[in-house]
Amino acid sequence: MPTTEFTLNGNPAAIAGNKGTRLSKALRDELRLTGTKIGCDAGDCGACTILVDGAPVCGCLVAVGQIAGSRVETIEGLSASSTVTRRLQDAFLRHGAAQCGICTPGMLVAATHLLERNAAPDEQKVLDAIGGVLCRCTGYRKIIAAILDAGIEHDNAAALDGPAAGQAVGARIRRLDGQRKVDGSEIFGADAAPEGCLLLRAVRSPHHRARFRLGDLDAFVAKHPGIERVLTARDVPGVNCYGPIPPFADQPVFPERDALFRGEAVAAIVGDPAAIEALDLADFPVEWEELPPHFGMDEALADGAALVQGNRPGNILTGGRVARGDAETGMAQSAVVVEGTFETGFVEHAYIEPEAGFARRVGGRIELQVSTQSPYMNRDDIAKILGIVPEDVRILPTAVGGGFGAKLDMSVQPFIALAAWVTNRPVRMVYSRRESIMVTTKRHPSRIAMRIGAAPDGKLQAIDMRADFNTGAYSSWGPTVANRVPVHASGPYFVPHYRAVTRAIHTHLVPAGAFRGFGVPQATLAQEQLFDMLADKLGIDRLEFRILNALAPDQPTVTGQTIGAGVGIRACLEALRPRWKEARERARDFNRRNGKPMRRGVGVAGMWYGCGNTSLANPSTILVGLTPEGRIALHQGAVDIGQGSNTVIAQICADAIAVSIGRIDLIGPDTDLTADCGKTSASRQTFVTGKAAELAGRELRAAILRAANAGADAEIRFTDDGVSVADNGATRALHLAAMPRDARGYVLAGEATFNPPTSALDESGQGVPYAVYGFGAHLAEIEVDMELGTIKLLHLVAAHDVGRAINPTLVEGQIEGGAAQGLGLALMEEFFPGRGENLHDYLIPTAGDLPVVESILIEDASPVGPFGAKGIGEQAMIPTAPAIMNAFYDATGIRLHRVPATPDRVRAAILAAETRDAVTREPERAS
Ligand code: FES
Repeated sequence: MPTTEFTLNGNPAAIAGNKGTRLSKALRDELRLTGTKIGCDAGDCGACTILVDGAPVCGCLVAVGQIAGSRVETIEGLSASSTVTRRLQDAFLRHGAAQCGICTPGMLVAATHLLERNAAPDEQKVLDAIGGVLCRCTGYRKIIAAILDAGIEHDNAAALDGPAAGQAVGARIRRLDGQRKVDGSEIFGADAAPEGCLLLRAVRSPHHRARFRLGDLDAFVAKHPGIERVLTARDVPGVNCYGPIPPFADQPVFPERDALFRGEAVAAIVGDPAAIEALDLADFPVEWEELPPHFGMDEALADGAALVQGNRPGNILTGGRVARGDAETGMAQSAVVVEGTFETGFVEHAYIEPEAGFARRVGGRIELQVSTQSPYMNRDDIAKILGIVPEDVRILPTAVGGGFGAKLDMSVQPFIALAAWVTNRPVRMVYSRRESIMVTTKRHPSRIAMRIGAAPDGKLQAIDMRADFNTGAYSSWGPTVANRVPVHASGPYFVPHYRAVTRAIHTHLVPAGAFRGFGVPQATLAQEQLFDMLADKLGIDRLEFRILNALAPDQPTVTGQTIGAGVGIRACLEALRPRWKEARERARDFNRRNGKPMRRGVGVAGMWYGCGNTSLANPSTILVGLTPEGRIALHQGAVDIGQGSNTVIAQICADAIAVSIGRIDLIGPDTDLTADCGKTSASRQTFVTGKAAELAGRELRAAILRAANAGADAEIRFTDDGVSVADNGATRALHLAAMPRDARGYVLAGEATFNPPTSALDESGQGVPYAVYGFGAHLAEIEVDMELGTIKLLHLVAAHDVGRAINPTLVEGQIEGGAAQGLGLALMEEFFPGRGENLHDYLIPTAGDLPVVESILIEDASPVGPFGAKGIGEQAMIPTAPAIMNAFYDATGIRLHRVPATPDRVRAAILAAETRDAVTREPERAS
């Protein structure tokens, strides 16, 4: 067997076997250095950046044979040997520059290369250095700040000790799980598998809609050594149907006869990894009969259109409706009415970590170690598929390398679980980038028609909206989008007359599902652009128009809910007032001084977002136990997908007990060890699980005080042999080692469940859909190149009412990352099924696309949230795109009704506007 010898992290190393193997794969598979991540295998994402002979390269583009005699350095080696890397790691932790952490090793390697040659680079040099490494979480600004700051000495003692007892909430503490993200030791879905693990590969439909017939599978297995088994629908022992919302569940593990979208798996091949990787599927026995698909919503809605799902007439999955007052009367009473139809396309989540995990059978149980946002939902669906009870399924979520909603749905889970179950061997699966883009859920394409009317004084009178969403072939989270959008389409404003009707429509395209905002970003694009049109018609300043109509705490929302307290939209908008005036003046100055082709504009947009499930129970349960050794075990089942819940929930719990956060050990998530904390979505973990942690922490505190016979204000201190409780000058000692233990081994414990107080919506959508809302407003300054059609975001100000910023650094990280995704939605991101299933055709923002984001944190406390906190995950991205599109109109006088505003669309709109201008000027010239 050929061997390639080289130097790896300062030591001699050798890789045996194929010299054509990608170096990134060989480092991970052969040498177990999984700090080098694989995101695309095409040199697009930079996650596998390593140093070869001192130069940064993508390990996926280097063949093993090319490094013979070379010097290779990975994050593991640099962490151990490079003081520059260690300074960078410290700066990343200080600045919150690692969120999910999947891009972090690549970023650190690229930054190390820069700083080793230039100890004090300017920002442009940093941008050049990390320009080839994509990050989907952070918006890059904290990464840039960390690299610029890495050369400066910092006193870390206070930061590493953490805040004093009772002072964790509000502190900018480092992520508790941060160290392993920066040193490359974090375990993501593809980073671990048991010895002897089989590999699974899906056989996928090449057609958007096709009938298929499988041939002789036994002969196929016999013909291919190393192939263990082919799995199809007939191998499913339980129910061949799953879905995140049980009443709408419709997705088979494998269909029996018809593939309903391109990429749907019709079978899976399991075998020895080398055999699976070498397999050419050309001789796989399947015949396809291509059938005419519905690509668009109009085709699916046409009379007599074939049904995508036979039990859903008209191809309508479901609809939503909220009505208050009388929209028609409100329009009739309005002095000014504006209307428009706005469209968006599919948007890909494009997290850097493709879906991955492994499953193994343990006696009569099945265990899955997998990248997921929803462990308990996975557990219940896997149990259904295998025909076993949920308690016999264990889900161990790995670190999640970005989720943003798509990892709420199952991807590899049903395949690996079924394969491990029937083969009784561990089985793993790692999606390729192409598979990840081709088959995982997307943001719903939308077509939103809206009318808005206002009185002469600018007060809103009525909003009337009809919105259709292309939900693709299976239901996924389509019902959630259809139900959430009507509640939110008013924006955070008082609207006396309101009607909002939505439909989720099936087509033969990849399922659309959950993506940061559940349809609200699309609706806000329509509503906030129409607000500018309305303000202009009324002759009212666009920001002041929003302030005039901002929802007050005592005003009812469009569902008739009076929130009562913690309604910070006015404060957010007013915080923008001075910047709005300055920015408008700056843009006017620029435009006066510079003629075409460069034009500048300023836009503003507001938002609100209900935290948690819409009118549905979504409890979280937290257990906190005091160990005999004096540690506090926090059983925390919420999956941290990079947003920071591991840290934030611990901060809340520590302050509820009034102990130092350093005293807390995180347990989980793991469905065997942690109770259900629900899914990580809908901006609910800080609010819902955080509240459960607060209540559980207070319960543990009360138990400690009871055991010490102390009053509620007593101080808890940990000593070498237990706890001492100081109360009114007296001190009582608890000798923990001598105390009896409960079944879990704790001497004292607190457990609490929190379920947000909501109510069902009636047939008009009236009720209390959410207990807590987050509010925000963004101000965007942009520059348009009128000749090239390009738009550059110059500056963004983001004001968000977060109730209480539990960890301001992490809140800012969410705002900056959300803004980056909003920028992508506005300017560059659209997925066309069947095309561009990679990260060089599907473009996401790079470090050079993001300007400085100025975050303004408003803390209008929620009476329900933990220490007043609200969610921020979804909220952060919602106003960015409409603010940019309003800025585009401000710059050009052209209103775009479809995003993304790609250069071709912008240029076409400019040409059309110039033609229109020329035509309308014609008579003037003639006269
Ligand atoms: Fe960069 Fe998640 S932190 S991709």
